Amino acid sequence: MRPRIRGGRTTVLAALLSLTLAAPIAAAQAQDAPSPGSTTGAARHAELPHQYEVTGPATRAERTALLATGVSIDEVHTRAVVITATRSQAATVHELGYALRKLPDPPGFATTAPHKPRVKDFPAGYANYHTYDEATKEIDALVAKYPEILSKQVIGTSHEGRNILALKLSKNVTKDEQEPEVLFTAHQHAREHLTVEMSLYLLKEFTSKYGSDSRVTKMLDSREIWIIPDLNPDGGEYDIASGQFRSWRKNRQPNAGSSGVGTDLNRNWDFKWGCCGGSSSSPSSETYRGKSPASAPEVQVVSKFVHGRNVGGKQQIKAAIDFHTYSELVLWPFGFTNDDTGPGMTQDDHDAFATIGKNMAATNGYTPEQSSDLYITDGSIDDWLWGDQKIFAYTFEMYPSSFGSGGFYPKDSVIPKETARNREAVLQLLETADCVYRAIGKEEQYCSGN
Ligand code: ARG
Ligand code: ZN
Repeated sequence: MRPRIRGGRTTVLAALLSLTLAAPIAAAQAQDAPSPGSTTGAARHAELPHQYEVTGPATRAERTALLATGVSIDEVHTRAVVITATRSQAATVHELGYALRKLPDPPGFATTAPHKPRVKDFPAGYANYHTYDEATKEIDALVAKYPEILSKQVIGTSHEGRNILALKLSKNVTKDEQEPEVLFTAHQHAREHLTVEMSLYLLKEFTSKYGSDSRVTKMLDSREIWIIPDLNPDGGEYDIASGQFRSWRKNRQPNAGSSGVGTDLNRNWDFKWGCCGGSSSSPSSETYRGKSPASAPEVQVVSKFVHGRNVGGKQQIKAAIDFHTYSELVLWPFGFTNDDTGPGMTQDDHDAFATIGKNMAATNGYTPEQSSDLYITDGSIDDWLWGDQKIFAYTFEMYPSSFGSGGFYPKDSVIPKETARNREAVLQLLETADCVYRAIGKEEQYCSGN
């Protein structure tokens, strides 16, 4: 795949950046950095990362090389990226010869008083986002209201002991019927709160419209839909626990011998783990891959669940979407290689992925592309689901398209529109899940056996 050109967005971004008070990184470094070895400040209150616009990186190879500094790449433009970095990571990027501008922090970000009690809730303007407890209550209420078509399982617990849930939606929900299964996952990355709302939207939509909306009804009658609404509850709660956002990405698992906390769940899956420069071995990196494949309890729990859907030697789950924010993208595997096809990805596989991906993107206005067009990732969930389980797995990067429209923290007023925006794409994937190769006219070759 050729990386697509996104010149228009760069122009918009540049215009927005010119409105921000962007201090040169070197100056910010001198003012704000704690002295080395300091036991106050950064040591007790872990340094929070910031977002920066980096001008210069223009190819996927240059973007992938940038990841070696320990940053995450949050947004890709023709000749620039937006990254998340600590002050020292930003300084390293600066040393590579790139121009950096610090972007404004999320609401109230810099004003946290250390003595401030933990409020564990979203700040003003975000009250309609669900905390972990609020989401759990909402889910329990739906299960109580629609017991015939919705059931809840606790499939395991997070590092800090929060329940990780799997919700099943289907007619005769208590029976394991011979129906194609489809999996929706969300919130691997802590700050991507809109993805939990996406899960809640799907749960509400499918329960409330069953029996009245013919497409929804048909899907619940003929599919088994799994929703894992929150893969990273610890990270999500940490991100909001001070009452102000922390731009947190990873889980909250400590790392022995390092002050760096957390594993990037979307680099920890057991397929080509750490193979290809698409993750970091350093615990302080935003894309730390963990000490071994599936070392994060959250990844273990979901891997075990997916393995459990292999019934009689046959994986029941046929298709999947993993929801992230942001950038408005529909991505397909592989992330570990720039090759379109190769071992584990035939031309027909690729064509079916690209065709369905483009069809879904035509419904929500996102941009469809192979995930490695952005930069290399290894150990991502979509690579594992496809490479290891042969599940037709996509990653959606939801609203907004850029930092200027809210980045990781769009106001709650966008929730209804930006979740419903994916209704059609989700229905299309469900409808095609019985035979994804129908999309390329090859159902007889691939699907006549069942
Ligand atoms: N932004 C997401 C991440 O860094 C997705 C990157 C695309 N790669 C992928 N394999 N889905 O994890
Ligand atoms: Zn993400």
